[in-house]
Amino acid sequence: MVQNNQQPVIILADGSTRTVGSEATKNNIMAAKILSEALKTTLGPRGMDKMLINTIGDVKITNDGYTILKETEPEHPAAKMVVDLAKKQGEVNGDGTTTAVVLVGEILKQAEELLEKGIATATIVKGFESALKKAVQTMENISIPANKEELIDIAETSMSGKGSFSNIRSMATKIVEALLEVEENGEIDRDMIKIRKIHGEGTEDTEITQSVTVDKNVVESEMPRDIRNAKIALLQYPIDARELQNQAKIKLTTPGEYQAYVDKEAQMLEEEVQILVDSGANVLFNNKKISDLGQHYLTKAGIMTTKRVKSGDLERLSKATGANIVNNIRELTSDDLGEAGHVYEKIVYEDREYIFVEECKNPGVLNIIVRGSTKHITDLLEQAVNNAIGTIIKVRENDKALPGGGATDMAVSKALKAYANEFTDKQQLVVQAFAKAMEQLPAALSTNAGLSTIDVMTELKAAQKESTNMGINVLKGEVSDMKEDQVLEAESNKIAILKSATEVALEILRIDDVLASKPETPVGGDMPGTPNPYL
Ligand SMILES: Nc1ncnc2c1ncn2[C@@H]1O[C@H](COP(=O)(O)OP(=O)(O)OP(=O)(O)O)[C@@H](O)[C@H]1O
Ligand SMILES: [Mg+2]
Repeated sequence: MVQNNQQPVIILADGSTRTVGSEATKNNIMAAKILSEALKTTLGPRGMDKMLINTIGDVKITNDGYTILKETEPEHPAAKMVVDLAKKQGEVNGDGTTTAVVLVGEILKQAEELLEKGIATATIVKGFESALKKAVQTMENISIPANKEELIDIAETSMSGKGSFSNIRSMATKIVEALLEVEENGEIDRDMIKIRKIHGEGTEDTEITQSVTVDKNVVESEMPRDIRNAKIALLQYPIDARELQNQAKIKLTTPGEYQAYVDKEAQMLEEEVQILVDSGANVLFNNKKISDLGQHYLTKAGIMTTKRVKSGDLERLSKATGANIVNNIRELTSDDLGEAGHVYEKIVYEDREYIFVEECKNPGVLNIIVRGSTKHITDLLEQAVNNAIGTIIKVRENDKALPGGGATDMAVSKALKAYANEFTDKQQLVVQAFAKAMEQLPAALSTNAGLSTIDVMTELKAAQKESTNMGINVLKGEVSDMKEDQVLEAESNKIAILKSATEVALEILRIDDVLASKPETPVGGDMPGTPNPYL
């Protein structure tokens, strides 16, 4: 770069690259479109699966947008923005990641055409923003109240996006009922729900209970493994004298001193275990280590003990049993103990032991053990259950539902086309373009189901004139009433998807300058001809 005084000002490091203007926009749109097209074929109950193979050769088959993109680490900055959107949608709402990514791609595809027609980016951004507002309003207008039945419909629709499980309705019902039971003041704490997947049984053996499982075993074979009326201590404290050594410097000079030290160690551990006994505890979950000697005294005391328990499990145990998590055993009293009717160890599958803590004192904690005959089915069902939970948590924000199967997208598209006529300038084209992007969602559902998309879309447009509930039931292979067919979605989730997809599309559109540093030289020297991933 050269200033007026002809002094060059170097901004970019040697080897960095810069792409500006329409070239940069085109590259970014292309990157987002590639991801969108890749995920599009997985949309809906009839979508295809993707096979993911990681660097160590593990294979995972899935159609879950979040799972697919989580494993993809694209280099391109615009693609990264799309992956971040999917991650956010997946982590916050659990469901709708594919829709969000497909929408970004479709919105940008429309933007590209508008740019080619010579419409300025600023006009496109403004028009899309107006279209988004109108779309959200339309969704709010056509939404219906979600009572328990509708909540079950929403859970089922969310699950059916992942696969066709034979007992899907009864699972959706169980999930909704369990969530409503653990809700406190209308809120469900996601951290208090643990999903474990264990293959080896049919999906109908999936269990949802108000209990806690810990995927550890009882530390010593001589300890009790089945306790009724459990008094439970939760510790974050190593029962291990060597830990003390680490904390204090001990100088031993004679063998006698060493023996005295060993005796002291034993005495100290015995005292610590005695504190547990005095408190009345008969079950201990500790998330720190316990030495052999510590285990010996705990066995002698008849305390069912589990060590190195994960913090999340300890939190759930605390909530379910009412026990306090204690950081120093010397401060433990009977007031810190929790209660459960039954604590036992059981082998669930192939020698995997779990500890079950049942008949807990407090509600609010859910334990879901997802079963399936193979690892693949168990993985899919786990994603389905996860999506249903996320969606139900989201829908409880306002208890409103929208028709699925592309019905809402078509209704929004129709409303936007009417709205476009209110504009007399180029924004009319922009709002119409947004309407077209929305239509791509039902079109993808139809194509993925192997239906004749042109015919189905024509039929859908006609049916929408009668009712905004009309969508494509891909399981039946026809246009029908989504409310009657129980294909419903969470309004709040659908709005969140639309808002964040539009935001990301606009962000990508606004970039007109990409400055990329030189990628780090791989070991072994520069590889001539290696393409810059940012271009
Ligand atoms: N029986 C059905 N007929 C038509 N469409 C359906 C049916 N069941 C679900 N759908 C639709 O499938 C779409 C959801 O598909 P899918 O679950 O594959 O994607 P997603 O929820 O956007 O993303 P992901 O689940 O991967 O996070 C929704 O639009 C929903 O309305
Ligand atoms: Mg889904």
